[in-house]
Amino acid sequence: MNKRLLILTIIFEAVLIVSCERITPKVPADDQILDGPIEGLSPAEKTRFLAGDAAFNDEIFTRETGLGSVFVATSCGSCHAGDGKGTLFTSLTRFGQTDATGNKFLHLGGPQLQNRALPGYVPETIPAGATFSRFTPPSNTRFFLQIAGKRR
Ligand code: HEC
Repeated sequence: MNKRLLILTIIFEAVLIVSCERITPKVPADDQILDGPIEGLSPAEKTRFLAGDAAFNDEIFTRETGLGSVFVATSCGSCHAGDGKGTLFTSLTRFGQTDATGNKFLHLGGPQLQNRALPGYVPETIPAGATFSRFTPPSNTRFFLQIAGKRR
């Protein structure tokens, strides 16, 4: 490699590193993370928070722990990944709500579509004639902050 090319390569890499640092956000400080516990919890409350947080993110439901026969997902975190917002691929579908008179499709599985089923069972489908909407999972931190707001 000639000298000029080497210098150009070094400059190019330096520019690349500096630009990446600008684009990639730094890891936020602990007190800036929205999915952590709120301030002022007692040790017992913190323990409960951690147990709930672990269950929310890591617990995978099975037939043995109550999943089915029809279902939408096997864990909370599969839709609210990292306590955050979901995507179009992790949406919920609700059907059958027409007006204030209520939902005429409750006997057919409404309002929430359970589009998956354990082996040997039939997943639900939207009944003919039922209106439906898709909901994208919101971030759960907002919800926890609402609770925190009410506590004060
Ligand atoms: C299939 C995807 C899916 C799964 C699995 C799921 N959620 Fe959700 N979640 C949603 C959607 C979609 C909404 C918004 C519903 C609405 O707007 O009516 C929501 C809303 C919420 C909210 C309200 C948030 C707010 O800001 O109002 C909470 C809390 C919540 N989910 C907790 C859970 C917990 C706990 C579990 C596990 C037991 C879970 N979710 C599993 C999709 C999911």
